[in-house]
Amino acid sequence: MASQTLTIRRPDDWHVHLRDGDMLRKVAPYTARQFARAIVMPNLVPPIASVDAARGYRKRILEATGPGFTPLMTCYLTDETSPDELERGFSEGVWLAAKLYPAGATTNSASGVTNFRNIYPSLARMEKIGMVLCVHGEVTDPDVDVFDRETVFIQRILSTLVEDFPSLKIVLEHITTKEAVAFVQSAGPNLAATVTPQHLILNRNAIFAGGLRPHAYCLPVAKREKHRLAVREAATSGSPKFFLGTDSAPHARQAKESACGCAGLFNAPFALESYAIVFEEEGALDKLEIFASVHGPAFYGLPLNEGTVTLERAKVQVPAEIGGIVPFHAGETLRWRLLA
Ligand code: DOR
Ligand code: ZN
Repeated sequence: MASQTLTIRRPDDWHVHLRDGDMLRKVAPYTARQFARAIVMPNLVPPIASVDAARGYRKRILEATGPGFTPLMTCYLTDETSPDELERGFSEGVWLAAKLYPAGATTNSASGVTNFRNIYPSLARMEKIGMVLCVHGEVTDPDVDVFDRETVFIQRILSTLVEDFPSLKIVLEHITTKEAVAFVQSAGPNLAATVTPQHLILNRNAIFAGGLRPHAYCLPVAKREKHRLAVREAATSGSPKFFLGTDSAPHARQAKESACGCAGLFNAPFALESYAIVFEEEGALDKLEIFASVHGPAFYGLPLNEGTVTLERAKVQVPAEIGGIVPFHAGETLRWRLLA
């Protein structure tokens, strides 16, 4: 009989949106319940682009989660980012990584980078000091089909970055395509990728199943089934190049159920449960721990967490709504449950 519990080293989330204000207070405890640490995205309005802003945001996150959780901060790269400010925040231990949003690629990316050449001095400095670059890998060219934007980003931009900065550590975030899987696999050890639960579970049909499904819409948008299968195979393969990053991105229900609905899924409340289901379906439950708790810290050069969490094979009912937000898996019954 299959084992009834699964105990793994405490995991981390290498990509999450915790928002600010009331939303932060509402959503951050869910991430802190599941994860010891999380890389917190800086796409607030205004963005977290200075050392002081990151310090203040980190304090507000800690007030929302209480002790026992470590937010790992990121700097939002803009055309004006100063390499000295980047290095100062890194050496003072305020931020661990910087985030590249191509301007206009996604939620609150208006202040993002308009031409990646504009941040070459920053990238050179990051390469020198060993600071990780997190990348939203989609081009914004309106002539490029929305389903091709990740692949075209790899061809037009990422391949150049990897060549021009061979020692820069880069995380291609939330990968969705077989092209991304192949590119990451074939690159050297300085390129890795995070994988979300939704991109392991949903293909693009889910967005149109019986009608328009705003709660299945995120960016990068889910792709064809063959891409989902390639991402699943990579995540569950045991390769150190792929690790957990939920991209939990909560929006109020009305902001998603709208004529111009926001991109993002709120998956934090049941993230480990989601991943466990996928790894079990792939016959790879033995690889969940390295994906969730080992490959991320190894890439970032951080110690592994102490302690463990336990998942129990038991039914858990996902609520239709949590604090005005519709969570991923709303209304479903999941077959793994994280114990308190
Ligand atoms: O779906 C998404 N939502 N993708 C992103 O890149 C940003 C995020 C958000 O902040 O809402
Ligand atoms: Zn994100």
